Amino acid sequence: MNRDAPLLFFDSGVGGLSVLEPTRALLPNAPIVYVADSAAFPYGTRSEAEIAARVPALLGRLVERFRPRLAVIACNTASTIALDVVRSALDLPVVGTVPAIKPAAELSKTRVIGVLGTDATVRQPYVDDLAARFASDCTVLRHGSAELVALAEAKLAGEVVSPGAMRDAVAPLLAQPGGERIDVMVLACTHFPLLADELREALPGIALVDGGRGIARRIAYLTREQPWPDVPGEGRAIFTGGPPAPPLAAALARFGLGSAGGL
Ligand code: DGL
Repeated sequence: MNRDAPLLFFDSGVGGLSVLEPTRALLPNAPIVYVADSAAFPYGTRSEAEIAARVPALLGRLVERFRPRLAVIACNTASTIALDVVRSALDLPVVGTVPAIKPAAELSKTRVIGVLGTDATVRQPYVDDLAARFASDCTVLRHGSAELVALAEAKLAGEVVSPGAMRDAVAPLLAQPGGERIDVMVLACTHFPLLADELREALPGIALVDGGRGIARRIAYLTREQPWPDVPGEGRAIFTGGPPAPPLAAALARFGLGSAGGL
């Protein structure tokens, strides 16, 4: 294994940073290539056919170009639709991101849990399956929110997120029958942990759960015997839609992605 081979993180936008951050905490010397498919952002309002056609093809090109040791699909939408196809097409370990329903069910006392994701994620059979396997004695209420995805992107680009916009975005989930009894919320979109402070304010008394740390542990486990550079790994961000604007580039630098450009 070449010690400079990077970890490749992939998302439609900046959401994958919520998976990158805990990974960097465990593997500070890992070189990182972070790819945002900004040319096709957002994924959450696209069809299954679009995601299933685009993600494996793009990842194939990225793997050929950057020769990563492992790829992380840091996106619930892409993972719940295309993870199996990507795994069978690529000759390297692929770690996906799927809704953290199991830990949420372990935590819930009221046995009512919320799943906040994108429209595309919350309608996936993959989510039905997770709910049936790990939360069969819970009521699992789901809601897809494109607004929250946009708010997370705006926050990273330096804009102020208003508490009113946050409350409006989560209101349809709380308004579902039983919504008032939700005590654990699964953040089933990697963009949403980037709004954790704002979500805590909008959802008082509700525990927020996401898969970021678990995925980081999985990446560390899968690479446990591999060599890394002796110094903190370089991070670069690639945006398929062209280089990010300066405020976003500055935010990326705070996540260790010092250079940012187009594909
Ligand atoms: N961050 C992505 C996810 O985890 C999707 C956001 C989007 O492009 O709609 O689902």
